[in-house]
Amino acid sequence: MKQILFLSVVTVGLHAVARGEGFGHLTTGGTGGQIITIDGAQTNAASQFKTLVETVNTPYIVQIQGTLSLEPVGGKVSLQANKTLRGIGQAPTLIGQIGFKNGVSNVIIERLNITNPEDWGEGDGISIKEKITNVIVTRCTIYDCADGLVDITRESDNVTVSWCRFYFTTPGGGNNRVSLIGAGDSQTSDYGKLHITFHHNWFSTHCWQRIPSVRFGKVHIYNNFYDCPGNLYGVRSRIKAECRIENNYFRQINDPYYVYINNEPPADYGKIAAAGNVFEDCTGQIHPGTDTVFEPPYEYALDPTEHIPVIVQYGAGADGCEGYPPHWFFGPYGDFNLNGFVDQADLRTLAGYWLAEGDIFNADFNGDGLVNNIEFALLADNWYRLSTHVAPPSAPQNLWALGQNGQVSLFWSANAEPNVRGYFVYRTTTSGSNYTLLNESPLESTGYTDTAVENGTLYYYVVQAVAVDGNESKMSVQACAEPAAGASSVILQENATGFCGVDGIVDLGKHAGFTGPGFCDTTNTAGTGITWKVNIAQKGSYLLRWRYANASADRPAALLTSGTVIVPSISFPGSGAWDNWNQVSVGLSLDAGIKDLRLEALSREGLANIDYLRISGPAVEAVWCD
Ligand code: GCU
Ligand code: CA
Repeated sequence: MKQILFLSVVTVGLHAVARGEGFGHLTTGGTGGQIITIDGAQTNAASQFKTLVETVNTPYIVQIQGTLSLEPVGGKVSLQANKTLRGIGQAPTLIGQIGFKNGVSNVIIERLNITNPEDWGEGDGISIKEKITNVIVTRCTIYDCADGLVDITRESDNVTVSWCRFYFTTPGGGNNRVSLIGAGDSQTSDYGKLHITFHHNWFSTHCWQRIPSVRFGKVHIYNNFYDCPGNLYGVRSRIKAECRIENNYFRQINDPYYVYINNEPPADYGKIAAAGNVFEDCTGQIHPGTDTVFEPPYEYALDPTEHIPVIVQYGAGADGCEGYPPHWFFGPYGDFNLNGFVDQADLRTLAGYWLAEGDIFNADFNGDGLVNNIEFALLADNWYRLSTHVAPPSAPQNLWALGQNGQVSLFWSANAEPNVRGYFVYRTTTSGSNYTLLNESPLESTGYTDTAVENGTLYYYVVQAVAVDGNESKMSVQACAEPAAGASSVILQENATGFCGVDGIVDLGKHAGFTGPGFCDTTNTAGTGITWKVNIAQKGSYLLRWRYANASADRPAALLTSGTVIVPSISFPGSGAWDNWNQVSVGLSLDAGIKDLRLEALSREGLANIDYLRISGPAVEAVWCD
């Protein structure tokens, strides 16, 4: 058994271990009593054990060492009050059923492996039955019992089952039962009793049903790890039961929790309040969890659900470790703040541990009581190296370009990923291909000014994000600009920042001579159009210019800003052929503000084919459409 210091100070992002003792929190067991060790190998071990634990009221801490079979005493014991049963040494194991004399109170069972495969007694591992109160079962591994692993019935009350591991070695179907709370619908005197807490338990291999099944009780189920694929169901809330199910992690579980109805009237249906649970590849039913149930009368701290598989596997069972797992259980050594990579913040954390005394567990990888060059080398090894599941950054968003006199300025939004190191900017004069990288080392800013350009040429740009590990994103959408003397300008191409949509298609190549990826072809009906979004950063005079082709007669269009017509009719006369591109301009005075611009067909032929809209003026920006 590994003893581990409990730390919370320097492990940024980690919470203190939830040590809530639940409904059984008043239990003291054999505390203050004599400590007596029974070795399973000694002669008469079973009868000595039975005598001790069945002694009326006298507190005892009975330690079990090795394997103790209850076969010589009929396969079971019936505990009396004020006892602690505790396993010590290597794999302390009790074979048989732990039962209780009716009405007994105050028992702790901890650090024991318990199994009852031969169906001794009632076939349970632990049978808490007939008005038993104040029981804690903690850090036990309970497995392969003929009936329930821990059953709690007949007006028993105030029980906590925590940090236990439950499993069966074979699938066993209907016989693999974990925990029955309330044995029958007719047992109405259970109502008002059966206050039970399950927390940080590991419901592991081949647990099949009753995890738990609850009648009449008020059961708090939090921070458990459901890890038994092939199961029948998880939690059943039955007649008059109230289940509060919080921050549990369900992995490949069928019917994680639901209300099971037998013959009771609707007013007596079981209830479920649920929050914070995670379902990984689950099937079947999950109750909405919106019922009103009891409030726990004790304090408890919920661990983050995504940490539950690690925390519970680390801590649950007779051989479980105490305390919060060190950070490297969740990722590479050195990633103290668990943000997916090892960087300066983590180096600062390591420095805090360096030559420190005392609470160094979360940094002391080799457990030699020091944080020194060994741990430093481990951290250095993982420096900026992401674990393999970390995806490349997403493509930068909202790229747009501003054409100015002798230069093009680019703008884009910062990536959200914390591991993005910077950006690469690429330029081409052939839309979509032949890009040249403009900056050798990643830019930390989210903007770039390209001065190696000539006025009157159309340039295309894309931007790429690069992570600290060298992982590169896909390219952003392409932006386009034409530097020119005079006013600055934006060019709004299809499928780029500032383009919101077309009533028709974006044609990527039917007719030659377009710029950018293609051109817009509206459906041939009046009222179809194209919408763009821009920010007029400064009130003033702007020139809007469309590049278009039209092999038919004039196709006039109206211009609208945010739904209001501002130019009633703009003429798009025939250009002779669909691959013959002309330009049409309108001059306008525009107020400042973000605007939807819409060109809308007035003729039943729809719009001419539109290559792009160029807007020039004092201060204009392309805006990403939502
Ligand atoms: C042709 C042409 C299209 C055009 C359409 C029209 O189909 O190929 O590009 O949009 O005519 O009349 O609108
Ligand atoms: Ca058309």
